[in-house]
Amino acid sequence: MKPEAPRALQASASPPDALGRVLADLRISVIDRCNFRCPYCMPDETYPAGHAFLRARERLDFDEIERLARVFVSLGVRKLRLTGGEPLLRRDLPVLVARLAAIEGVEDLALTTNGALLPRYVVPLRDAGLQRLTLSMDSVDAEVFRRMSGGRGELAQIEAAIAAAEAAGFARLKINCVVMRGVNDDGLLDLVARFRGTGHVLRFIEYMDVGTVNGWRGDRVVPGAELARRIGAHWPLEPLPRDAAATARRWRFRDGAGEVGFINSVTEPFCGGCTRARLSADGKLYTCLFARAGHDLRALLRAGESDAALRATVAGIWSHRGDRYSERRAELRAAGVLEHVEMFAIGG
Ligand code: GTP
Ligand code: 5AD
Ligand code: SF4
Ligand code: SF4
Repeated sequence: MKPEAPRALQASASPPDALGRVLADLRISVIDRCNFRCPYCMPDETYPAGHAFLRARERLDFDEIERLARVFVSLGVRKLRLTGGEPLLRRDLPVLVARLAAIEGVEDLALTTNGALLPRYVVPLRDAGLQRLTLSMDSVDAEVFRRMSGGRGELAQIEAAIAAAEAAGFARLKINCVVMRGVNDDGLLDLVARFRGTGHVLRFIEYMDVGTVNGWRGDRVVPGAELARRIGAHWPLEPLPRDAAATARRWRFRDGAGEVGFINSVTEPFCGGCTRARLSADGKLYTCLFARAGHDLRALLRAGESDAALRATVAGIWSHRGDRYSERRAELRAAGVLEHVEMFAIGG
């Protein structure tokens, strides 16, 4: 049993949203730049070299991020996750981690990274209070890995990142693999073999129609259920109980070699339990990964609004939230709703 949150925090939680979902997680994007060009996120071909990324003064600074994080925690958030683009491109990230780790009420502090820069930062991040790490790894084949990072990443780098994280004491990493039919789906059993028995948790993510530049096509999605069957035929699986707020369906290997997860947001949407808010690097609050626009909290911060006013604004936005894009995907796409915030701007 987790200890109860302090009374002051509990009493003032945000009202639930319009579909009865509480506000419990905040995913904070610290930068929109990335050193990779994954085809499912910011493909090189559709991503113009001259694209204007945010300039430093457009991004929230650490004071502003900490202040907003405190507001969200006072409204009921217990889990924080730092994302990007690639969050390790943000200078002095461990300093921000230490400031977030010190907030009373934060029970979980995690980071999602592509790993390329991790060996340099993993010890300072751990020392600053980072609790969990998620790494992206789409293949154990060097050529396929390179292709899935848009020619920017090397398999040896991600292996070095995993080794560095293990050496720093991160014994249970999450490893995310986005599956694209015809691109990386024929090597997935090798990826499973790589992580069986390591203590790390591999999760397969269905290729999603996030953003506007990744040229999504439904026939490129490999349903997670199909993958689970393919994996189970080699290494028998049994389901683990599902947490309503979780993204992943979890299965354990019957032989005790650990577990594997499936984030089936296309074929088996999980909006019903979605307690996640997202903050972009320029301080916009998004209430769904597929939202078209966000709410500008930076403008309120920089206009000198009080914490109480920020709290009221965020609670008001959350209480009106009715997003459930993944459950309505077919209907909304048919109606021409194709404009979504880019994944690298809100970090997945
Ligand atoms: P935990 O904090 O360990 O539970 O992490 P998580 O399950 O939220 O996973 P993570 O942050 O690693 O997210 C993995 C991927 O799942 C993301 O990169 C997205 O692709 C997808 N994902 C996460 N949250 C959502 C969501 O709210 N909606 C949809 N459609 N996909 C999501
Ligand atoms: N579909 C599914 N997941 C995606 N991610 C980025 N783009 C997509 C997409 N189109 C996720 C991956 C990656 C994380 C940073 O964002 O999980 O690991
Ligand atoms: Fe970069 Fe992550 Fe997007 Fe790949 S998925 S391009 S690593 S932000
Ligand atoms: Fe939440 Fe939107 Fe994802 Fe549904 S599609 S789970 S509402 S972020």
